[in-house]
Amino acid sequence: MKGIVLAGGSGTRLYPCTLGICKQLLPIYDKPMIYYPISVLMLSKIREVLIISTPKDIARFKEIFGKGDFLGMKIDYLIQENPDGLAQGLVLAKDFISNDNIALILGDNIFYGQGFSDILENAKNDVKNGYASIFSYHVKDPERFGVVEMDKNGNVLSLEEKPKKPKSNYAATGLYFYDNEAIYIAKNIKPSQRGELEITDVNIEYLRLNRLKSQILGRGFAWIDTGTHDSLIEASSFVQTIELRQGYKIACLEEIAYNNGWINNEVLSQRAKLLSKSSYGIYLNRLLNQGK
Ligand code: G1P
Repeated sequence: MKGIVLAGGSGTRLYPCTLGICKQLLPIYDKPMIYYPISVLMLSKIREVLIISTPKDIARFKEIFGKGDFLGMKIDYLIQENPDGLAQGLVLAKDFISNDNIALILGDNIFYGQGFSDILENAKNDVKNGYASIFSYHVKDPERFGVVEMDKNGNVLSLEEKPKKPKSNYAATGLYFYDNEAIYIAKNIKPSQRGELEITDVNIEYLRLNRLKSQILGRGFAWIDTGTHDSLIEASSFVQTIELRQGYKIACLEEIAYNNGWINNEVLSQRAKLLSKSSYGIYLNRLLNQGK
């Protein structure tokens, strides 16, 4: 399975913060925002990842991740010339995806919760049987998102992108597991009223084919918003609170790579040295001293 992170968009809702840097590189407490979605792909044991971004911003991501060697991964990059919608990412990534299945995640989505790896594993298995998976989360303001209507057994009844009158309080989060057919489904959808190829329309097609599953991320879960100035601070505070209390870091990519057996002590030690002046580097050093 291959991973795709969509890190484009103009970030106008966060102006002037995003005039000089893209949203997905803004810090969430102690690391760039994109670390969080990359960590989700790594927890799904996906080692080959494509980052899609704008012509202006792609170089920044390359600076941060390079070829992915320090994570024992293979990271590639692709430019989306125009912000024509999330589903376009699937079409653009065709060569990268080749014959594989796909996990697609939005570069500004932060997930946190116990047992997430098992949930991801289930979705990965469902894809092998041709089922796409979305992850639904109860929110107070569903009209801002794709909205999932489900029956009491969690079967999806309908999906709507930012409806004025939401049929439920469940938002479709920005994480999607698809089989290879998603490329062709995405190719055939038409732009929405706002002129974008909507990922929700890809999911609606899977629903029509009776091949869409929704897993609810329940009360013990955090799916954190990064869409406004306030929510950025809230996200940072959330991460800070957990990290300071537990002494574990959220979305420490080197730690996940190390635990997955993708990097050895030497690679981890190089990273720890490079970052040694920050609390992040100190954390890596501690990992090194503790061993696995
Ligand atoms: C996108 C999707 C929407 C989803 C949301 C999650 O919205 O179109 O269905 O609920 O991401 O973050 P956007 O952020 O592009 O407005």
